[in-house]
Amino acid sequence: MANYFINTPGNTIRPNRTTAILRESKALEYHKSLSVYQPTPLVSLPALAQKYNVGNIYVKDESHRFGLNAFKGLGASYAIHKILERHPHIATFCTATDGNHGRAVAWACRMAHKKAVVFVPRDTTESRMKAIGNEGARVIKVDANYDETCAYAKAMCRKEGWQLVQDTAWEDYEEIPARIMAGYLTQFQEMEENLHSLPAPGIDIVFLQAGVGSWAGSAIWYYLNRYGNKRPGIVVIEPSEANGILASFKAGKRVNPDCSFETIMAGLNCGIPSLTAWDIIRNGVDVSMSVEDAFAEQAIRELYFPKGNDRRIVAGESGAGGLAGFIALVTTGDARALKEKLDINPTTNILFYNTEGATDEDSFNKIIGARP
Ligand SMILES: Cc1ncc(COP(=O)(O)O)c(C=O)c1O
Repeated sequence: MANYFINTPGNTIRPNRTTAILRESKALEYHKSLSVYQPTPLVSLPALAQKYNVGNIYVKDESHRFGLNAFKGLGASYAIHKILERHPHIATFCTATDGNHGRAVAWACRMAHKKAVVFVPRDTTESRMKAIGNEGARVIKVDANYDETCAYAKAMCRKEGWQLVQDTAWEDYEEIPARIMAGYLTQFQEMEENLHSLPAPGIDIVFLQAGVGSWAGSAIWYYLNRYGNKRPGIVVIEPSEANGILASFKAGKRVNPDCSFETIMAGLNCGIPSLTAWDIIRNGVDVSMSVEDAFAEQAIRELYFPKGNDRRIVAGESGAGGLAGFIALVTTGDARALKEKLDINPTTNILFYNTEGATDEDSFNKIIGARP
């Protein structure tokens, strides 16, 4: 069953430090200067669209980003580049992560010839830790959940003199998360070029999966800034056992959700939303919803075993989060109000971002092995 909140967004961008950094972003220019840069593909899935009786389904496939199997390198590389412009002598960067961001920080540090220390929460799998370690970082597991691991990384940075590169903002920590969000903008700018190549370029609804919400916040800022009131409909999806954004919408303020934090969607397994992302999200989201893991598993299988001539897409548990939300929305009877609000019909063009490939191969293989 889908748990959701229908929002009435102001559709405004509030001027503050974060939105100023987003406006100044030169991330696309920076990323294009990297030898590994290539725009990720936008894939059309007509047979899947036909199955769900919508106009078109498009997936921007970030599993091809920088050979990192996830989009996160965009944020970490740009933030570290901006920090080093001003403080070139920093020797060690540090972060807390549930996987992809840590790998991205390690990779960006390797490119910049700097050290990386990455703290991971207690439920991080061996294969995710190995992927981070393979980029040359010191990886340390903390007996704590994601939010507590962030606090631990912050304390260790203070003690050791390391530079924290965290992808979530709190009261006295805004600039670096904003630089990370500014790095993500490359993806949305690329989308504009991708869209011109399509037969029906208009996107009606975008599904964005969220952990702390920095990525969704960056996307929403982009759509508001570029399209204003004519932006596409925006739905934010979270796991039902880590739904800080939905809980915050329901509470009318940013809160820590009361849930188990047990989900296969590791990249989305976060508690309280990022302070600055939350402000953008509440001003630009139409629907916030959370879904059970079973929908993510179904989404992974739908993409891996495509219908008709659709192209196969390898999506990890968090990467498939947007499609998971869509499937929950169109297949569960109790979501009728949502369908009406979003006006999903046979001409609707829908966009998902596959934000990661199979970043945990054991889990992925189990999911696709259970083909119905
Ligand atoms: C694959 C994937 N998708 C989406 C997200 C969500 O990003 P955010 O935490 O900024 O909401 C993450 C975060 O780690 C992720 O790893």
